[in-house]
Amino acid sequence: MKTKILNDTTEEIEEAAKIIAGGGLVAFPTETVYGLGADALNSQAVGKVYAAKGRPSDNPMIVHISSYDDMKKLTPQITRDMEKLMKVFWPGAMTMIVERNSVIPDVTTGGLDTVGIRMPDHPVALKLIAEARCPIAAPSANLSGKPSPTAAQHVIDDLAGRVDAIICSDDCKFGIESTVIDMTGQTPMILRPGIITKEDLETALGKKVLLDPTLNKRPDKFNNEDFRPKAPGMKYKHYAPKAQMIVYEGRMEAVEAAIDRERVEREALGQKVCVILFDDAEHKAAAHQFFAKLREADREGADVILAAALKEEGVGFSVMNRMLKSAGYNIRKV
Ligand code: TXA
Ligand code: MG
Repeated sequence: MKTKILNDTTEEIEEAAKIIAGGGLVAFPTETVYGLGADALNSQAVGKVYAAKGRPSDNPMIVHISSYDDMKKLTPQITRDMEKLMKVFWPGAMTMIVERNSVIPDVTTGGLDTVGIRMPDHPVALKLIAEARCPIAAPSANLSGKPSPTAAQHVIDDLAGRVDAIICSDDCKFGIESTVIDMTGQTPMILRPGIITKEDLETALGKKVLLDPTLNKRPDKFNNEDFRPKAPGMKYKHYAPKAQMIVYEGRMEAVEAAIDRERVEREALGQKVCVILFDDAEHKAAAHQFFAKLREADREGADVILAAALKEEGVGFSVMNRMLKSAGYNIRKV
């Protein structure tokens, strides 16, 4: 398939919107990561997204909207709590899991009776949705299992030849995917942490929010029966670079020394080593760079990536969620 490489001009967004409305696939920028979009109400189109990404079909998609009216068509009732979150965080990096209306086909939700909905805070994404005149189902625009794409080039590398068009725009502002919050239970629960934190959500709601208890837990702390994340996508091998990856935990000086020793040893064996050391006081900057660093390591042909753990607080918790998965929970305590 020939993939059209489009710019983020008004005319080219309109062209992309026509492709979506006609049942095609278009990758587009958002403030979190690039998404791979299809008409969320067209089951055939959504089916093609799974195929293009090589994504398991039980992994539901997030439905992207551009107006509050869209929300009313997709879910039977908007509760007070949902309304509060929409007011504070939309457009923005928050996805709400809510009951779904029957207009949404089964393939979009992986057969679940709930749906994830988000209004992205990006002018290109909002214009694309509005012009296509349909909600857009969009997972991250990477091949399944690879790091999420935070730059147009990442999307081209993964999906050129597999989708109808790619809208190229700036690098994504945040660099990690949206916070996913399940609003269908008694107490709201975070299924995937992001730039919008538990504390942010609790402040907006004026009440307690739960974290899916499996988040950031080392799988060896659970027996297999218990290790069942609530968001289907969180159970798959994820964000993985080609290189082996090791996460070092401990006091910063000890971690830096251990990484340095390992680097010297490996280089002596002729291996290519990539080190990821973020400033633990700048978690948003770490989020912004993390996936791009993994892709850079792969491009440079790294054999191993040595990364220092961040404090699991605020956005640091969200970056660590990705880092632990990328490394397949390969952790060294020093
Ligand atoms: O920032 C983002 O959310 C990006 C951009 C493109 O908007 N999208 C994204 O989509 O990260 P994706 O498909 O890569 O991740 C969606 C996550 C998966 O873990 C999926 O299992 C979960 O949300 N999810 C979607 N619908 C769900 C539902 N009804 N119930 C539980 N989890 C759901
Ligand atoms: Mg993804």
